Amino acid sequence: MKRHLFFVVGFMICISALATSIYSFVQVTRVETNVPSSTSISLPSSHFVLIAEEENNSYWRLVEKGAREAENQFDVLVEYKAPKRSNPEEQLKLIDMAISAKVDGIIVQAVNEEMFTPLINKAVDAGIPVITIDTDAPRSNRVAYIGTDNYYSGTIAGKAMLDDMEGDIHVAVITGSLESSHQKLRVQGFIDMISNEPRVTLVEVEASNISRLEAELKAHQLMEEHPHINTFYGTSALDGIGIVAAAEKLGLDDLYVIAFDTLPENLSLLEQEKIDAIVVQEPFEMGLKSVELLLDIREGQPYSMTNHTHTSIIRKPDLSLLQEHQRLGDKQ
Ligand code: BGC
Repeated sequence: MKRHLFFVVGFMICISALATSIYSFVQVTRVETNVPSSTSISLPSSHFVLIAEEENNSYWRLVEKGAREAENQFDVLVEYKAPKRSNPEEQLKLIDMAISAKVDGIIVQAVNEEMFTPLINKAVDAGIPVITIDTDAPRSNRVAYIGTDNYYSGTIAGKAMLDDMEGDIHVAVITGSLESSHQKLRVQGFIDMISNEPRVTLVEVEASNISRLEAELKAHQLMEEHPHINTFYGTSALDGIGIVAAAEKLGLDDLYVIAFDTLPENLSLLEQEKIDAIVVQEPFEMGLKSVELLLDIREGQPYSMTNHTHTSIIRKPDLSLLQEHQRLGDKQ
């Protein structure tokens, strides 16, 4: 009898232990499955890569800013990639990496049409739409271009110089690169505009490698070698700043200088009358619109293949208008 009771009690203890374990297991499972679903990460539906000429260049940071604005407005992730210093080979590697990563679209400055065409075509063949920005490669299979009409911008620079200067003009050009497609167009447009003007002599064209310091060194050398130069034309964003620095070192304060881009330093030099005119580009808009354009293309919306952003000339009296324009919503 005692033995029987012992078995009954033991059996009941085992049953209650089992029941407790099952209950605890059910509770734990319930807690785990009740984890709110909001912790799961939802990725944007489009992933684009924007490949610039130079990572920390103020001009390209404005392009990036435009692309970030598009990220705020649309369901898209934009990766900003660029070599530390201007380097077309590295840009090509970045395109290749973007192809391997199977991104949904590539926005790239096609700084040299011949070099960039094979990789642009490779991406398009792999089903990845490519938009060129700032510098076009019209003979590649890129789906569209957004940016300045670079040849036109050179012609308006030439016209501004002719309008502003009286008498003989001895002009030297500091250009971002002798190989870059857009820089060549900016120089060619300028040359074509002045070619029928006997009062204008083009003294020399030198490259700055888009570096402010190299622009200064090249300008300094030209000023020393050709003391009759009275005008400088800088065709990339930091060239004007370099030209002015060289002129200041040599104490030349009566040069006519026409530069590119409304970066704060250029605007300040315009205000101080050290730069006489600036060719305005729209880098923020290029960044914003390039992302919008790629989204349209992905959604099968109609789009234009060539999208020229606004280009104009400003001089000191236009500064207040420009500042007002920026105050009224231009995010640059
Ligand atoms: C050009 C860019 C270039 C930048 C360099 C701009 O004027 O449009 O292509 O990278 O200057 O500072």
